[in-house]
Amino acid sequence: MGIWSKKSLAVLQAEASAEGHGTLKRALGALNLTTLGIGAIIGAGIFVLTGTAAAQYAGPAVVWSFVVAGIGCLFAGLCYAEFASMIPIAGSAYTYGYATLGEFIAWIIGWDLILEYLFGASTVAVGWSGYFVAFLGELGINLPSQWVNAPYAVQGTHTLVPTGAILNLPAMVLVGLMTALLVVGIKESANFNNIIVVVKLLIVLLVIAFGFAAVNTANWHPFVPPNTTGEFGHFGWSGVLRAAGVVFFAYIGFDAVSTAAQEAKNPQRDMPIGILGSLLICTILYILMALVMTGLAHYTDLNVPHPVFVAIEKAGPGLAWLRVLVNIGAIAGLASVVLVMLMGQPRIFFAMSRDGLLPPVFGKVHPRFQTPYVTTILTGFVAAIVAGLFPIGLLGELVSIGTLLAFVIVCGGVIALRAQRPDLPRPFRTPLVPLVPILGIVVCLAMMAGLPRDTWIRLVIWMVIGLVIYFTYGKRNSRIGRGEQAPVTGD
Ligand code: ALA
Repeated sequence: MGIWSKKSLAVLQAEASAEGHGTLKRALGALNLTTLGIGAIIGAGIFVLTGTAAAQYAGPAVVWSFVVAGIGCLFAGLCYAEFASMIPIAGSAYTYGYATLGEFIAWIIGWDLILEYLFGASTVAVGWSGYFVAFLGELGINLPSQWVNAPYAVQGTHTLVPTGAILNLPAMVLVGLMTALLVVGIKESANFNNIIVVVKLLIVLLVIAFGFAAVNTANWHPFVPPNTTGEFGHFGWSGVLRAAGVVFFAYIGFDAVSTAAQEAKNPQRDMPIGILGSLLICTILYILMALVMTGLAHYTDLNVPHPVFVAIEKAGPGLAWLRVLVNIGAIAGLASVVLVMLMGQPRIFFAMSRDGLLPPVFGKVHPRFQTPYVTTILTGFVAAIVAGLFPIGLLGELVSIGTLLAFVIVCGGVIALRAQRPDLPRPFRTPLVPLVPILGIVVCLAMMAGLPRDTWIRLVIWMVIGLVIYFTYGKRNSRIGRGEQAPVTGD
C-alpha cells in the first residue's frame, strides 16, 4: 500500500455520478464535447508549426508526418475513450492512473499534465500574440515592441538570454480574459467555444477548398525531398519522423475532452464520441491543409510564423480575399485553444485536491457558477506569467514531451486494468488490446525520442520538483493514505 495504493473504482464511479451542491454542472452533450475537442486541437500547431516542420525537416512529406502523428494519437485516443467512458471523472489521466497504477504514478501524471494544460495555454497564448500583433500592424496600429515580446529568448539549446523586451502583454491579457470566462461558467465557455469553432472550421475548409483549386503541383515534386547531408531528421524519411514529433503539438487537445467528464450529461456514451470524433475530424483536415499549403507555396518559403497566410499569398491575387479571413481564423482559433487548456487544468487540480494530494482550497466550487473558481484563477495567474516571460519554442517542446508521457501512461493503464479487472463493464472498449495500447506506447515513445536532449532535462527537473511536493505534502495528506475516501459530494 502507501504510495502504491489505488483508488477504488466503486468510489470513483460514485463520485462520477454525484450531483448537487459542491459538484460541477452537467451541461455538455456529444456535440458540445466534440466541439470542445476541436476547439482545443486546431491552433498553433497547424497555423504556425506546419510551416517550420515542412521547411526544416520534411518538405511536402509533412503530410506523412501528420499521418504518423495522427496514428499515434488515434491509438492513445482509443485508450482515453475506454477510461473516459468507464471512469468519467474530472481528473482525466490522473484519475485513470490512480485507479490502475497507484497513487505515486497518479501524482506523476497529475504533475506532468500541468505541462500539457497550463504550459500549453501559455504556449498558444504566445502564438496568438504573434498573429494578433501582426494583424494590428496591418491595420496600421503598431504596439511598442518591448510590450509584445518575451523578455527572454533561448540561445543555443538551453541558455536564457534577455531580449530587451519587458513583457508579452497581449498574451497575458488573452489568458486573463479566458480565465474570467471560465470562472463565470462552463456553459458560457462552451457556447463561446462553439462560436469560435464554427468560425475556425469554416476558414480551414475555405482554405482547403479554394487552395486546392490554386495548387501548383510542381511544388509537390519531389514529395519526399532527399536527405542530402546524411544527418538524421533533415529531409528524407528521418525528416518525416522528426517533423511528426513537431506537428504532434497540433493534435494535443483531444484528451482535454476527458477533463470535462463530470460536466457531461451522458459521459458513458458521449466521451468516446467527443474524443474520437474531434480527433478524426482534425486528422482529416490537417492532412488536407498540409497538402494545400505545400502545394500553394514551395516548402522552402514556409519557414515563417504565419505560414498559412504566406501560402495563400503565393496563390496570387485570386485568393487575396482569403488572407484577412486566415488571420481572423488564427486569432479566434488560437484563443479557443487557450480557453480549453485553461479549462482542463483546474479540473485536474480539483480532482487532486479532492483526493488530498493538494490543499482543500483547490477543490472549492463556486456556489453560484458551479465552477472550480479558485484553481481556475490560480491557473490563469500562473499561465499568464509564463506566457508573459517565455518564448514559444521552449514552451512548445515542453508541452509535447509532457503530453506524450501522459499518453504512454494512459495506454499502459488500459493494459493494466484489463488484467486486474477484466470483469468491469466498459461502455467503450479499446479494440485489439493489448496491440493498440502497445502500438500507442511505441509511437509516442518514438516521438519523445525525437525531441531534443534539453527538453528531456527540463522534463526531469520538473518531475523532481513534483516529487519533492508529493513527499512533503501529498503523501502525508492523501485521503487514501490516511484511510479515508475522498468525499462524494462537496463540502
Ligand atoms: N493542438 C493545439 C494547438 O495546435 C495545442 O494549438
